[in-house]
This record gives sequence, structure tokens and C-alpha cells, in this order.
Amino acid sequence: MAPRPVVLVTGAARRLGREIALHLGARGFDVAVHYRRSAADAEATLADLHARGAVAAGFAADLADEASCRALVPAVVARLGRLDAVVHNASLFEPDHAADFTYAAMERHWRANTAPAVVLAQALHDHLAARGAAEPGCVVNLLDQKLWNPNPDCVSYTLSKAALQCATTLLAQALAPRVRVCGVAPGLTLGSAQIDDAKLERLQAQALLGYGARPADIAQAVHYLLTARAVTGTTVLVDAGQHLQPHDRDFGYLA
Ligand SMILES: NC(=O)c1ccc[n+]([C@@H]2O[C@H](COP(=O)([O-])OP(=O)(O)OC[C@H]3O[C@@H](n4cnc5c(N)ncnc54)[C@H](OP(=O)(O)O)[C@@H]3O)[C@@H](O)[C@H]2O)c1
Repeated sequence: MAPRPVVLVTGAARRLGREIALHLGARGFDVAVHYRRSAADAEATLADLHARGAVAAGFAADLADEASCRALVPAVVARLGRLDAVVHNASLFEPDHAADFTYAAMERHWRANTAPAVVLAQALHDHLAARGAAEPGCVVNLLDQKLWNPNPDCVSYTLSKAALQCATTLLAQALAPRVRVCGVAPGLTLGSAQIDDAKLERLQAQALLGYGARPADIAQAVHYLLTARAVTGTTVLVDAGQHLQPHDRDFGYLA
């Protein structure tokens, strides 16, 4: 019997990362659950994965720290025996504007959102090469519909995701044929400090389709890309059409 593929999901303790991890665990993947501070939530995600019959283990790392990020793939391979795919879902989101922009804010976002994707993709490539893997591995980076529908809010976050989108293209070129590199760009899917449940429901109802993306829709797209052997260097937008509806402010600032 072929061994089950192993996927590393960053930021998998809570919210979309947890949903992606559980979705993949129920569909034949063993899962490396990465987290930073949410240790208790990571334990709950692991328990739910084990209940679904997946092999799963937790890995704590601050991806903004280069040495910690570089240590992650070797730790996963040492613990789970192999690695076949990476979903870079972890993300920093701190709203700012051109008026209060700082180098420090931009650096924080790039260190969490952008640079780890390059390091983790290269590490996956090197592992697959050392293993002599016959099939390509895959990286899926979580982007954002706002890259197709820009507004000037959240400038550091948006710049980091725009660079991640570009990195998705560059890595697809650089790491072929061993690694496919793709993106999933969610629309407004979950609430936040600025968006409570009532506001989320109201904003999602305004999407072209009359409803918003659910966490399961994002996870389904990630699974598709992980298993789509002829797809690389492209992004699937999962946003019920929000990128086709220009907004002059970020959702957090809309009524
Ligand atoms: N939610 C949405 O509606 C939406 C919309 C568009 C795009 N997206 C994208 O989809 C992805 C998931 O969204 P989300 O809202 O579920 O994400 P989130 O809750 O904002 O963040 C996910 C996790 O990222 C981890 N993280 C942050 N900085 C880190 C660092 N320096 N090192 C390691 N981990 C770090 C945190 O882990 P710990 O808690 O363990 O510290 C956090 O739980 C993100 O990439 C986001 O940009 C989401």
C-alpha cells in the first residue's frame, strides 16, 4: 500500500488553518499541525485529526524567526518520516495606512506572510530531491481576493500578500518539476476584531453570489490544488465573486 502523503499546514490551530488541516486529514493526508502561540487549540485540532484516523503531530514555531522557520521541515520529516506538501496559511494581519506606515510594520508582515513561503517551498523541494520522489510535491499559499480588488487600507498586509502572489509564480518556475506552487485567494470568510458575526453575514450577503465563502469552500480548493497534478503557478479565488465588486475600503471599514 502506498504511504499516505504528509502535508504541513502552517497556522493550523484555529480558524481557516484548522479547517484545512481537518479537511485534508479526512481525505488521505497525514498532517503536520504548525502553530505559534495557540498550543491548546493545536491540541484540539490534533485530537480531531486523530479521531478521523489521520496520523498528525504538532509543531510550534514563530515563522518570523528565520532559524525557527528553517528548522520546521526537518522537524516534520524527522517526526512523520516524509513531507509531500505545504499549505502556507499562517498570516499576520495588522491594519495600517500609508499615513501611519512604518518599515517595522512592513517587515513584520513580510516575515510572517511572505518569507516563510519561500523557505518552506525550498525545503520541501530539497527534501523531495533527497528522497528521489517520483511525483511532484505541492505548495499552496493562502492569498486574498483583495489583490484582485485593491483598496488603500491594510497597506503592509496587502504588500506582503502581493509579494506572496509573486513568489507563487517565481517558485512555480524555480522549483519545477519537483514542486508545484499554487495559491488560494479567499474572500471574506471569517470575522475579525473589526467584523462581528452580524457584519460578516451582511457583507457576505452582498457578494455577487448572494452568499460568502465558507471555511469548507477554502479547504476544498486547497485539496483540489494539492491533488491537481497538471496545475502550477496559478491561483484559485474562492470569494463568491467579491473580487469583481470594487470596494474603496477594506471590509473592516465598510458599514
Ligand atoms: N479569514 C478570512 O476571511 C480571510 C480572507 C482573506 C484571506 N485570508 C487568508 O487566509 C489565511 C487564513 O486566514 P485566518 O483568518 O484563518 O488567519 P489568522 O487567524 O489571521 O492567522 C492564522 C494563524 O497564523 C499564525 N501566525 C501569525 N503570525 C505567525 C508567525 N509569525 N509565525 C507563525 N504563525 C503565525 C497564528 O498562529 P497562532 O495562533 O498559533 O499564534 C494564527 O492563528 C491567511 O493567510 C489569510 O491572509 C483569510
